[in-house]
Amino acid sequence: REPLDLVVIPGDGIGPELVDSALQVLERAAAAGDFAYRLTTVEAGAEAYRATGRALPTDALERLRAADGVLKGPVGLPGVRHPDGTEAGLLGGLLRLGLDTFANVRPMRLLPGVSGGTRHSAGEIDYVLVRENTEGLYLSRGAGAATPDAACDQLMITRAGTERVVRYAFGLAREREGAPADGVRRVTCVDKSNVLRSYALFRRVFDEVAAEFPDIATEHLYADAAAHDLVARPECFDVLVTENFLGDVLSDLGAATVGGLGMCGSLNAGVEAAYAEPVHGSAPDIAGRGLANPLSQILSLALLLDRAGLRTSGDRVRAAVESALAEGAVELDVRGRPAGGTGSVTSAVCERLAR
Ligand code: NAD
Ligand code: IPM
Ligand code: MN
Repeated sequence: REPLDLVVIPGDGIGPELVDSALQVLERAAAAGDFAYRLTTVEAGAEAYRATGRALPTDALERLRAADGVLKGPVGLPGVRHPDGTEAGLLGGLLRLGLDTFANVRPMRLLPGVSGGTRHSAGEIDYVLVRENTEGLYLSRGAGAATPDAACDQLMITRAGTERVVRYAFGLAREREGAPADGVRRVTCVDKSNVLRSYALFRRVFDEVAAEFPDIATEHLYADAAAHDLVARPECFDVLVTENFLGDVLSDLGAATVGGLGMCGSLNAGVEAAYAEPVHGSAPDIAGRGLANPLSQILSLALLLDRAGLRTSGDRVRAAVESALAEGAVELDVRGRPAGGTGSVTSAVCERLAR
């Protein structure tokens, strides 16, 4: 086959360190899986905004659309802001809307040798949170109404936007390998339909789409109860689907139960385009010091390989991560930082890919 055409966005803060680590892993994975790839780099994010006045270069969207996949580091710096107080270096709106990647797929797995902070052990937490990625409370980003004394953003749910992400979640429940404790494949709808009309529509559309998948069980949870249950009984979840902002908050909560943000990769998936990035941000508090856990970026790479039709290579990367953890080659402290630094994790994974 043709070499895989990948675009890399190193991003801000810990982004470049993490992407560098994932690219070392990619090199080993390509050798082990016998595939070729071509890389091009796009500088985007808060530093790019500071330097050029644009968070994303003008021609970038076209290049990202044309690529086989995009590997993106976290972007954004708390100090780089628009006059309205929001951050200027974020690409969420530009990429998620620009590439129409409507499903944000965030797998949560407690891996061997990792302490997740609940009473669960490895293998017991294994679910995927599917976050709607193009509407919800984020619809009015940058366009909300504001005076010095009041500000208002809208939460928009559409039938079409909900149908496609809910279908994606059910499709994933059909095909994915992991299973909840009771072995029953299910999709959990998370909303606040007890209070808001927008969420009531989300739930109604969920139920309609669910009827197309009679082989998959369904469950409804209000978001507050879901937050509780993701800590108290995470072993019961299989696939969850939820609105954009709720998904944002719940995915960081889920991360805390599987060893921290450094353990969580994600894929922003659309019909045409896809890009992979960690669930976490640019961690300016530890940037440039080699302290960050790169597994989030490495697991994001694995999701990108799956999506590019290289599932065997994606599995190989995940297996290398798991054996590095199981064999004690990677130890995380209470803050989720690897004892031997970013480089030691990278080498541990690369070594296992070369075996
Ligand atoms: P953050 O996720 O960057 O950091 C939260 C905490 O987790 C920090 O203590 C950090 O050190 C730690 N942490 C994060 N990733 C880690 C890793 N891989 N290994 C070890 N520890 C890790 O969240 P924040 O501080 O709220 O945001 C920082 C910046 O990132 C902001 O500008 C924010 O807007 C941006 N952000 C970007 C993305 C993205 O690009 N997808 C996602 C979230 C936040
Ligand atoms: C995420 C991030 C983004 C979001 C920010 C940086 C815009 O927190 O990908 O989870 O809120 O979607
Ligand atoms: Mn987030």
